[in-house]
Amino acid sequence: MSFRTSPSAIDYVEDVSPGSGALPPRAWYASSDAKSLSLNGSWRLRVSPTADAEDDSFAEPGFDAGDWAEVAVPGHWVLQGDGAFGLPIYTNHLYPFPVDPPHVPTENPTGDHLHLFDLPEDWPSEGGSVLRFDGVESCARVWLNGTDIGEFKGSRLPHEFTVGHLLKPSGNVLAVRVHQWSAGSYLEDQDQWWLPGIFRDVTLLHRPAGSVLDFFVNASYDHITGEGTLRVDSDVDGRVSVPALDIDVATGETVTAAVQPWSAEVPKLYDGELVTEGERVPLRIGFRTVELADGLIKVNGRAVLFKGVNRHEWHPEKGRALDLETMRADVLLMKRHNLNAVRTSHYPPHPAFLDLCDEYGLWVIDECDLETHGFTEQAWRDNPVDDDRWTPALLDRAARMVERDKNHPSVVIWSLGNEAGTGRGLTAMAEWIHGRDASRLVHYEGDWNSRDTDMYSRMYASHAEIEQIGQELDGGTHKRRELPFILCEYGHAMGNGPGGIADYQELFEKYDRLQGGFIWEWIDHGITHPELGYAYGGDFGEELHDGNFVCDGLVFPDRRPSPGLLEFKKVIEPVGIEGDGTDGTVRVTNKQDFADLSAFAFEWSYQVDGETVESGSLSVPALAPGASADVKLPEPPADHGGGESQWTVRALLAADTAWGPEGHEVAWGQLPGTARALPSIAASDGPVPGDGVITLGPASFDARTGALRTIGGVEVSGLRLDVWRATTDNDEGAEWQTGTRYAELWRKYGLHRMRHRLDGVEVGDDALTVRTRVAPAAWEFGLAAVYRWTSDGNRLKLTVSVGPEGEWPVPLPRLGVRFGLAQADGVKWYGGGPGEGYPDTKSASRLDRWESTVDGLQTPYLRPQENGARADVRWAELGGLRIEGDPEFFLTARRWTTEQLDAAAHLTDLKAVETVWVNLDHALHGIGTGSCGPGVLPQYQLRAEPVEFSFVFSEIS
Ligand code: GAL
Repeated sequence: MSFRTSPSAIDYVEDVSPGSGALPPRAWYASSDAKSLSLNGSWRLRVSPTADAEDDSFAEPGFDAGDWAEVAVPGHWVLQGDGAFGLPIYTNHLYPFPVDPPHVPTENPTGDHLHLFDLPEDWPSEGGSVLRFDGVESCARVWLNGTDIGEFKGSRLPHEFTVGHLLKPSGNVLAVRVHQWSAGSYLEDQDQWWLPGIFRDVTLLHRPAGSVLDFFVNASYDHITGEGTLRVDSDVDGRVSVPALDIDVATGETVTAAVQPWSAEVPKLYDGELVTEGERVPLRIGFRTVELADGLIKVNGRAVLFKGVNRHEWHPEKGRALDLETMRADVLLMKRHNLNAVRTSHYPPHPAFLDLCDEYGLWVIDECDLETHGFTEQAWRDNPVDDDRWTPALLDRAARMVERDKNHPSVVIWSLGNEAGTGRGLTAMAEWIHGRDASRLVHYEGDWNSRDTDMYSRMYASHAEIEQIGQELDGGTHKRRELPFILCEYGHAMGNGPGGIADYQELFEKYDRLQGGFIWEWIDHGITHPELGYAYGGDFGEELHDGNFVCDGLVFPDRRPSPGLLEFKKVIEPVGIEGDGTDGTVRVTNKQDFADLSAFAFEWSYQVDGETVESGSLSVPALAPGASADVKLPEPPADHGGGESQWTVRALLAADTAWGPEGHEVAWGQLPGTARALPSIAASDGPVPGDGVITLGPASFDARTGALRTIGGVEVSGLRLDVWRATTDNDEGAEWQTGTRYAELWRKYGLHRMRHRLDGVEVGDDALTVRTRVAPAAWEFGLAAVYRWTSDGNRLKLTVSVGPEGEWPVPLPRLGVRFGLAQADGVKWYGGGPGEGYPDTKSASRLDRWESTVDGLQTPYLRPQENGARADVRWAELGGLRIEGDPEFFLTARRWTTEQLDAAAHLTDLKAVETVWVNLDHALHGIGTGSCGPGVLPQYQLRAEPVEFSFVFSEIS
């Protein structure tokens, strides 16, 4: 035994090999009877600045680590100790070290971890033991009781070591040296925080003589005969039993029985057991057959439409060290929001997550821990996936994923990795996976010719392009033309958005070849921070970083759903509920792929001006997947006072399920009834000039400027045309975009600094007219804006006419009026809600009566930006005013100005001012997904065009 550190003692760090000493990969399972001991808990830690700063004497029994820090394992050392052990670094694709593979910097933070443990008294003395690490970033060397047992790379993959011969009943010393950077880091350039540490479980597993080693559950389903076929191949012979199916066979033996298949919609699992001489292992068997047939991805004979999301593992305090409850929370949230699929971007998740996917029902694309995106900066020169020296490491990663996860029915597709360019190493991985597991398909987005893969997959392709693909007009290789298509990433959920996902869904539903997609991404990777609320890239002083590009999830870091998730839930709902309200029927469509509608109960209600006047249940046949029916609605209530009316039909869970309670809403639709009468007032009062003031009905104006001052007792300040919004991440656009980086264009053309020139204040018989021209310095284009005020004595009407002048080079961010109110807290409105909605993100905005506080209207995007608009508002009440729109408008109210919102970098920068700023927008520019994808579709762009819109104000008495 030697404790001397020589330079060669750290050679493994920069070695392209996956490591040495670890056992071959195998299935991950929890034994029924073999003992195991969790080594999670409090460990001692010492962090050194370089890989060789300290010798390895710490691994020797008797070493005194009394003055070392204590940290939690699983954990990342940079998220513990308030920065004492180093800080997180966020980069999207840039390597945060010089690119010189396989070399890494001398400055290589190295965490020496020590854990002392005793064996439980009932730990058997016979048999062997295995020490398992489920995840260590990025490279570890391990000693047990002073013996060097090996080293490994492959951060999000399991590694096991035989240790039985080294164990003692008590006083065992487990020493793990973890290096932040290693050759493996070149293969792990995913867009996420770099977070070193032992971040998944460490477990000691007893291995009785004759225990299970590795096994492969092959459970297929024949949709023609309704039979399942089971064969469990096991390295150690034994028997397999499935009591519910009366199965009791030897391993390796094939057996057939009538079964209920597994699908994400009906995740039927059969409990079984694998018994060898020395061990019993519980099995959860799902029968299903995945195949490529008729150019489609089919499961159990049916094409699947993926309504998916990309999920990184994330917790705002613990980083990628997730506990079971957090994983379950993710799965439940996904199921409750109608998602049916997850891509485990960009590495195999904690194995317990896949158990949950099996149990609750989610299709999984299990992705290997591989990304070399940073090589794009050098035109992919030296890319490890095209360099044979790295192939063993790539194959090791593929095998560790496939062997670990092969027994999960939820896993239907293996993915080679993400953004690793192209090369022989990827081909080798695909060949190995195809050879090892013919029961699943292989995915890799970077393979545009689908050379190695079973589907054509892309990310962020535009609507127009995927429509072409849907129509099979996209060309490509012969092989690709025969393959189905998925969008493995789309709908970049960064900040406000994503916009345009309903338009994607329409295409997915229209063309068979388009088998859906996966929103990027599940959760904002914000890190809880004492001053900033949530930190993002750059907040830890990183030399290179990509800012808030790491905050692009459908849920906020605390897993509160963002409006994007609610929009997605609506867009992908399992039941279509539509109709134009004219023929007394509602068209109900089962949009599921496997289940009929029997799990759902339907309800109707009839609203007048947003108030429900009658409701009841609706009997809908248990339609088969894909089927539609026109279901008769009851007679509408006879007298409803002439208000605007509509039907709302909802689909609810008919009974409690594993993931949602009875009554949980899965889908809804609204059908119009009687149209809304637009507010009209007779201009019976005229403006009356006074001492510096003009009065008109309940209002007073500044006589010189024509500016509104009061409506009854309510002070109103600064009312004028407004075109600016605090730019969203999607307005900012990605740096590689051209033409859709609206924020840059808007600022270039001065839309954030529009000047308002007063051209005239005209006191007419029945109207006060204020003429203005609104335009930015330096440019000749502008907007003629005329405010025409009239009153019937009680109410005040503003009609705004806008006429573009000159050539408008860009769309407008917004078009409406903004004003300040001295006070406002509660807000009521009749219109779209409860959450925000923009032209291309308002599928989930439901016409109803809503209430909120001003604070409650804000959406807390981690980087503050335009948010919170309520769409299709007929009327709103706030700050003592009632406002009716002609036509409907977007309502926004906040305790800060747009300029303050625009300037803030974190939510903690927003300080409430006295005034509540209200925007009443006739129109808004769409949101799009330009932060990493296509911009705003033409139909949602706000062009400068002649337009007129009105608001009727009255004081609430
Ligand atoms: C993709 C990549 C993801 C993420 C996303 C942008 O190109 O695969 O990891 O970086 O863009 O957020």
